[in-house]
Amino acid sequence: MGSEDEIRGSDSDHGGWSAKVGWVPAAGAALKQNVTDILESGQHTYGPWIQELETRWAAIHDAGFDGVAVNSGTDALRLALLAMKERYGITMAVVPAATFTATAAAVLQAGLRLELTDVSLADYNLNVDRLPPAIPNTRSVVIPVHMYGNEVTGLQIDQMRAKGYLVLEDCCETINNPLRGDAAAYSLYACHHIPAGVGGMVIANDKRLLELIQSYANHGRSSEWPSDRFNFVRVGYSSRMTEIQAAMANHGLDNIKKSLKRRKEIVKFYNNNLPTENLILPRSIESDTHMMYPILLRRNSRGITRDQLCSALLMKGVETRPMPSLVGNPVWKGWDNLHINNLLGNRFPNANTIAENGFYIGCHPGLTPEDCEQIVDLFKEVMK
Ligand SMILES: Cc1ncc(COP(=O)(O)O)c(C=O)c1O
Repeated sequence: MGSEDEIRGSDSDHGGWSAKVGWVPAAGAALKQNVTDILESGQHTYGPWIQELETRWAAIHDAGFDGVAVNSGTDALRLALLAMKERYGITMAVVPAATFTATAAAVLQAGLRLELTDVSLADYNLNVDRLPPAIPNTRSVVIPVHMYGNEVTGLQIDQMRAKGYLVLEDCCETINNPLRGDAAAYSLYACHHIPAGVGGMVIANDKRLLELIQSYANHGRSSEWPSDRFNFVRVGYSSRMTEIQAAMANHGLDNIKKSLKRRKEIVKFYNNNLPTENLILPRSIESDTHMMYPILLRRNSRGITRDQLCSALLMKGVETRPMPSLVGNPVWKGWDNLHINNLLGNRFPNANTIAENGFYIGCHPGLTPEDCEQIVDLFKEVMK
């Protein structure tokens, strides 16, 4: 690895080639036709595409009732929390300290007390062993996040329940694992497994909870809607999905098996070929769905920082992003002081490690086998 000046360089040298972190498949003729039909039909919300999506989403995740389509993963989390607050009386939520900001923001938006807990470096998910038992006489929810598509297993969710928590799964970076928590929230944002521009889904096995989520997403209307159109029974949001988003999502679902298979092949190739002297590569188990490929730079690896390495890769055309961690983000400063573990000294050592040394690259089906070989070669070159 060269000096910082050499790393930054003055010109990029990738000759136009680039390996992007995210990818959105081009719309095929069938989707284009369906979008045209929707535009011409005049039915832009609450139509057949949304109905189909809500039914399919529940079916692929083994949920007992149709899901609820909303306008983002953040809405899915926030509205599920508001419904859990009304239905089960929750007052606080515990969130992993290394997740995308929206997991924690949704808690505050729902008017709940927010607590953070550390993650594990084995899978970058909430570390169940470090999760303190729920505070007695307080109804609490824990929000495990399936980071990068790394499955939070059924066993881990059972352990969270045994500690006294309700469980809302943040599945915004995954798809396809069966529902095991009390509810699960998904994102259909561009570059996620099922991109619909923006969008979100919620599933649960409690019909009343789903009715509440539907009501919160639609201005607080009563569940008698649409027959009782102007009967508002709670303060709600305007969080509905459009038929166009739902058509995009349904087309994505048609190809999901193929796309997950390709992601797995890419991860296997990276895991077998990327240099490991200075890099910690991610685990891969059968049920992981690999939204991104997270890498941890080993501490003290020849003095290179994560940011220097990422700049060097970018110069060669390989895009990276820092692994998200709440630790170190201005908006979440201070939450470390409130933590329920606050007698334990450095409360989030792993979230700190991720904030300093974690980054990810793409592992999406838009990458060809040649792209993947080139990525591996470039890693070897810049890590020399
Ligand atoms: C873990 C996690 N939670 C929540 C969200 C929020 O989803 P959206 O951007 O659809 O609101 C994201 C989005 O990337 C995410 O990665």
